[in-house]
Amino acid sequence: MGFPKNFLWGGATAANQYEGGYNLGGRGLATSDIITEGSLNIPRKASIRLIDGTVTSIGRHDPIPEGAVGCIDDNYYYPSHVATDFYHHYKEDIALLAEMGFKCFRMSISWSRIFPKGDETTPNEEGLKFYDDVFDECLKYGIEPVVTICHFDIPKYLADEMDGWLDRRVVDYFTNYCEAIFKRYKNKVKYWMTFNEINLLNGYATLGTRKTDDQTRYQAIHHLFVASAKAVKLGHETNPDFKIGMMVAYILSYPETCKPEDVQEDLFASRDLKYFFCDVQCRGYYPAYKLKEFERKGIIIKKEQGDDEILKEGVVDYIGFSYYNSSVSSARKDTETTEGNVIRVMKNKYLKESDWGWPIDPLGVRTSLNYLYDRYELPLFIVENGLGASDTVEEDGSINDDYRIEYLRDHIAEMKKAIELDGVDLIGYTPWGCIDLVSAGTGEMKKRYGFVYVDMDDKGKGTLNRSRKKSFYWYKKVISTNGEDISLE
Ligand code: BG6
Repeated sequence: MGFPKNFLWGGATAANQYEGGYNLGGRGLATSDIITEGSLNIPRKASIRLIDGTVTSIGRHDPIPEGAVGCIDDNYYYPSHVATDFYHHYKEDIALLAEMGFKCFRMSISWSRIFPKGDETTPNEEGLKFYDDVFDECLKYGIEPVVTICHFDIPKYLADEMDGWLDRRVVDYFTNYCEAIFKRYKNKVKYWMTFNEINLLNGYATLGTRKTDDQTRYQAIHHLFVASAKAVKLGHETNPDFKIGMMVAYILSYPETCKPEDVQEDLFASRDLKYFFCDVQCRGYYPAYKLKEFERKGIIIKKEQGDDEILKEGVVDYIGFSYYNSSVSSARKDTETTEGNVIRVMKNKYLKESDWGWPIDPLGVRTSLNYLYDRYELPLFIVENGLGASDTVEEDGSINDDYRIEYLRDHIAEMKKAIELDGVDLIGYTPWGCIDLVSAGTGEMKKRYGFVYVDMDDKGKGTLNRSRKKSFYWYKKVISTNGEDISLE
């Protein structure tokens, strides 16, 4: 009963929000490096240089004008540049994770640290060496690295010169990148994930395309699917023990009422937002509903010979997913919305919201696990979950983050029911931002998720010193009892 003996308790991070060292060790610029700071009310922007040399900024999901390239503008602060400096703190940080008893650690590799522009044939040895050291440090403590190959950003050069994922060549560059890291780390890393939240990738910083119409978007998404499937195939050839997963932002949704129109709207919205991505990556082909939609809208996906076979051969071994908040679907158009993970969602009057406006729905995590397991019967891995909250450091240095403990406790309780009562095959849990890092949505530091506090503010000022929050000791207890004791005290 309860969590399986080998359950992967851990925490999650991503290079663009945690690693820093953006211009060190031969690393090239990534698309995340030109994204400015922001806040809940001030959206983050992408800095660009127009064809006439003018430097300006645009919405980070907006299409970029023809001829414009990403650039750094001295008038802005770019949180990814130093982030919370894992680059220089990895030994100390991994020791803290080990102290909590972590069984695994989710992190991402920065593509432009391995291939600075993206199109090189030889990888950057200094970059490879950095991750060697990180993985060795994890393995020293018996911590299994769980690696996201691409967490939102790509080398800036590929976005500037090739229109990012719209350009088929980027699939080949991605495959080269995978080949380099699979070969190098084949005896150090077993768990991989191809694209973080593949269903939410959008805009310059991520897809890197200059247009946002459906035809363009789906063509770029097709390239992501092919790139992911090729990676899975290549990974299995490199080491048959590799476990390679997809990663989806699972935003559970409920119909607003039992009115058939609302229920149908929920079906369509769920397919569009999440199931389409899981269907292709878990089943190995485009679902009928999407092909019909393409037909209706006149969308024609340009495929290369062999793409359909690749999709079949590259189905994933497990589903990694993030779960932060749920949403509501309604046939009405005049709905009231609130914030949520990357996309705004309809308000749910039955749920409380975090200080950043994200609905809090622990029960929904059990429902989500069941929906996913019913549909795919694949192992599931919750690779992100957590409460973004601002913490207060007391005079004695303590940080009493009971609100974070309560959020995590309530979610873990529901995960346990999904395992015990529903028979769901859940293999691990890595709460987001286990050590404080920069918020992807707002670029803030004050929106924190960690068990470990990092002294750094929204403008990048601070000592970067690490300290243990109350949740640190709580999570340590949860892990040491394999999820049996999740009580607050
Ligand atoms: C997910 C991302 O969208 O949610 C992370 O994979 C992100 O990169 C996390 O940080 C939490 O979102 P935010 O906006 O609070 O940082």
